[in-house]
Amino acid sequence: MRLAGKVAVVTGGASGMGLDTAMKFAAEGAKVVVADFNAQTGAAAAQTAEQQGFDVSFIKTDVASEQDIEAMFEHALVTYGRVDVLFNNAGVGGAIGPLTETSMEDWDYTFDVLAKGVFLGIKHGAKIMRRQGEGGSIINTASIAALSGDAGPLVYSAAKAAVLNLSKSAAVELALDHIRVNAICPGYIATPLTHSGDLAAIQRAFSKSQPWPDFGRGEHIAGVALFLASDDSEFVTGESIVVDGGATAEGPGRSRQFPKMAARNSRYSGITKGSTGAANDLRKLDTTERNDDP
Ligand SMILES: NC(=O)c1ccc[n+]([C@@H]2O[C@H](COP(=O)([O-])OP(=O)(O)OC[C@H]3O[C@@H](n4cnc5c(N)ncnc54)[C@H](O)[C@@H]3O)[C@@H](O)[C@H]2O)c1
Repeated sequence: MRLAGKVAVVTGGASGMGLDTAMKFAAEGAKVVVADFNAQTGAAAAQTAEQQGFDVSFIKTDVASEQDIEAMFEHALVTYGRVDVLFNNAGVGGAIGPLTETSMEDWDYTFDVLAKGVFLGIKHGAKIMRRQGEGGSIINTASIAALSGDAGPLVYSAAKAAVLNLSKSAAVELALDHIRVNAICPGYIATPLTHSGDLAAIQRAFSKSQPWPDFGRGEHIAGVALFLASDDSEFVTGESIVVDGGATAEGPGRSRQFPKMAARNSRYSGITKGSTGAANDLRKLDTTERNDDP
C-alpha cells in the first residue's frame, strides 16, 4: 500500500486516465476526491469505487473556476481532513483548427481549463499542503503536444506547454516546503477523449504514430502518477515524464517513412564510410528470427 494514510484529489477523475489514476490511488490505500465537471460520470466513478471497497468521494468542479477549486479543497478537508496528493489532470481538446480561424473565446476556454485550471489547483492545493507542514506531491497532466509544433491542436499545445513551465516554476517555489511538483506528458492514450469505443480503429491509428506496438491506456498514466505521488519519487521535482510508447523518441519518424532504412530492418551491420574513398565494411545478418514488420 504505497499511499496508505494519504488523501489525493484527482481533477478530471471521472473518466480516462484520471479515473484509472483515482482507482489506482485508492487501491494503494489513499482516500480519493474525484473532482470533475461531469456530474454523471463523476457519480458513477464514486459508485464503482465504493463497490470495490474504496474510499472515494465525488464533487462537481469546474477547474477553471477559483470558487469551485476552493470548494473542491474544502470538500477534501471536510471529508478526509487533509490533502497530500493533487493530480491536476482535467482536460479537453479545446479549440481546433488553424490559429488564423481561432476566436478569442475558444482560446480563452482552452487556456482556462488546461492552464488556469492547473494554476488554481497548485495555488490552493499548495497552501493546504504548506499549512499541514508535511510536504506533498502535485502532478500536472501536460502532453507530448507541449514538446513540438505538430503533436496536437495548436491552442491545446500552447496551453500544455504552459503547464510544463508552470510545473517547473512551482517546483522551485515550493521545494522548501517539501512539496514536489511534476508533470506527465502522455502520448496518444486511448481514453474517451480520443476514441469512441472502436479499439481496433484506435490500434490502427496509434500504430502509425509510435514505435510501441500497442496503444497507450489510462493505466499506463496511472502507474507513473502513482510513482510521482508516492515516496518512491521523494527526490523528484520539477520533472516531466513522457509516457508515449516511444513517440517522441522516434522524432521525425525517418524509419517509418523509409522502412528499409530502419536499424531494426537492416540486413547488414558494420561501418559505412561515405565519400571518403575508404571501403565500407559490412556483414550480412541472419534475419530469420526477427520481427521486421515496420
Ligand atoms: N488521451 C490522450 O491521448 C491525451 C494525451 C495527452 C494529454 N492528455 C491529457 O490528459 C488529461 C486527461 O485526459 P483523458 O484522455 O483522460 O480524457 P477524458 O475525456 O477521458 O477525461 C477528462 C476528464 O476531464 C473532465 N473535465 C473537462 N473539463 C473540465 C473542467 N473544466 N473541470 C473539471 N473537469 C473537467 C472531463 O469531464 C473528463 O471527465 C487531459 O488533461 C488531457 O488533455 C490526454
